[in-house]
Formats: sequence, C-alpha cells, structure tokens
Amino acid sequence: MLQATLEDCNPFVEIFNDLDYHIPVVSTYSGPKRPGRAKPKRSGLFITFEGIEGSGKTSQCHHLATTLREHGYWVIETREPGGTPWAEQIRTLLLSPQNQLPSPEPLTPETETCLILASRSHHVTHLVTPALARGAIVLCDRFSDSTLAYQGYGRGLDLTRLRQMNRWVTHGLTPHLTFLFDLPVRQGLARRRTAAQQNRLDREPLAFHQRVRRGFRALAMHHRRRIVSIDARSTFEAIAQQIFHTVSPLLEGLTQHPPSFESPDR
Ligand code: TMP
Repeated sequence: MLQATLEDCNPFVEIFNDLDYHIPVVSTYSGPKRPGRAKPKRSGLFITFEGIEGSGKTSQCHHLATTLREHGYWVIETREPGGTPWAEQIRTLLLSPQNQLPSPEPLTPETETCLILASRSHHVTHLVTPALARGAIVLCDRFSDSTLAYQGYGRGLDLTRLRQMNRWVTHGLTPHLTFLFDLPVRQGLARRRTAAQQNRLDREPLAFHQRVRRGFRALAMHHRRRIVSIDARSTFEAIAQQIFHTVSPLLEGLTQHPPSFESPDR
C-alpha cells in the first residue's frame, strides 16, 4: 500500500522497486533474560554514494545492492533527497525545473537547504535508523556530504552551520563508509540526461558544479578513513570490483535475511 503511494508520487521511483519501506515494527519488549540466548547481532551497515552529476554512483549503488542480495544479505536501497513517500514529495518539489515550480520566484539557498533537511529528517527517522537497528545494510544514494558540497561549497552557505544542521536532523548518524565518485565536471555533465530530463540543479552553471566537485574532494581529504574516492572514469566492472573489495571486510556478522516480526509474548 505504502509502496504504491511511493510509486504514485514520483516517476523516478522505479529504481526503488525493491525499496523495503515497511521496516517491521520491532517490539521493545526484551523479556526476562534466558540463559544461552544468542547474542543479538550487531546493528547494520550504512554506506553512502556521493559525487557530482553524471558520476555513475546510482548505477553502482544498485549494482552493489544486487550483488549483496545475491550473497544473501538484507539490503535496503534508498536515496536522498527522498526515500520515504513524504521525502519523495519534497524531492519532486526541490528538483522540478524552475519553470515547473508553483510560482516564479527562485528558491533561495536557505529554502533549498531546509527542504533537503526536512527530507533527511523524515528519511533518517522512518527508514534508515530503524533499518540499521534491525541489522540491514542500507545503501543510500547521496546523504549529508551532498549538503556540504552543494549547499556549502556550491551555494556558499556556512559550512559550520550546515554541519550543525546535518547533525540535528540525523541525530548524529554518520555513514560507516562513503564512496565518492570523482571525475571532471565536463565529463559528468556530458553523461547526464538530455536537457529535457535535467533537474533544477543539473541546470546550474559549470562553475557551480566545479565548486561542488572541489567541495567533495575537500571532504574526502578531511575524512580519509570514511570516504573512499573512486576514479569514476574507470570501467563499470573495475569500479564494481573496487567497491565490493572495500565492502567485503565489513560484512561479517550482518543479517543474512530480514528478521521476522517478534511478538512480545514469545
Ligand atoms: P540525483 O539523485 O539525481 O543526483 O539528484 C539529486 C540532486 O539533489 C543533485 O543535483 C544534488 C542535489 N542535492 C543537494 O543539492 N543537496 C543534498 O543534500 C542532496 C542529498 C542532494
């Protein structure tokens, strides 16, 4: 039912056909401790995919999800802005080309940021955090680093304030691992959709996208342990291998199948 709503509200959402939006409600009842009860599995794994337009991150995110599922892991594939029906509606508003917005005044950088953060708050609260708590691998196409790169480096908003706001809406949730797909801006934009399919941000001038790329590279320098840079000019297969090789050591102990609903009186 909710899946239908999600599909109805956004034409891009077919890439989320297997989006497991219904994270089963978990009972908070833990019951009396039984001797010999298996230790709970550790919580999930949160991986994000970042990069400029046309960097190929979305296809690789989907490919990794498919590969991990083939290996039996429970994977939730999602994206930002978006990921829940509410957040997908915000995405539609945010990315509509200027001439399709409800009124002609341009969005201010502050309005844009607030919409993105509203989407993130809903997504983190209702999808990402519950899924991680149940041991899922959550693969997210863009997350907080995009806000720093686009709204911070691209639009020129204050980075310290953006970091604080990111922390506020995510309650400090940080990816375990981030892949940054890097390539020259002209190459990325040339790969991008046709002009008619371009979203509002795709249509920003070259200099904006160059600032965004510089921002992503600066973030990667700053968070060397979390952010792994990928040369997005390599072949699809080479990149997929590099990603799987990086992720493999982190898989130990993760849930192999979606956990079933736990009844409080079990
Ligand atoms: P994409 O998912 O097709 O890359 O489109 C998402 C667009 O949203 C992209 O232009 C980047 C933009 N964006 C921001 O500006 N800030 C953000 O925090 C996020 C998540 C996305």
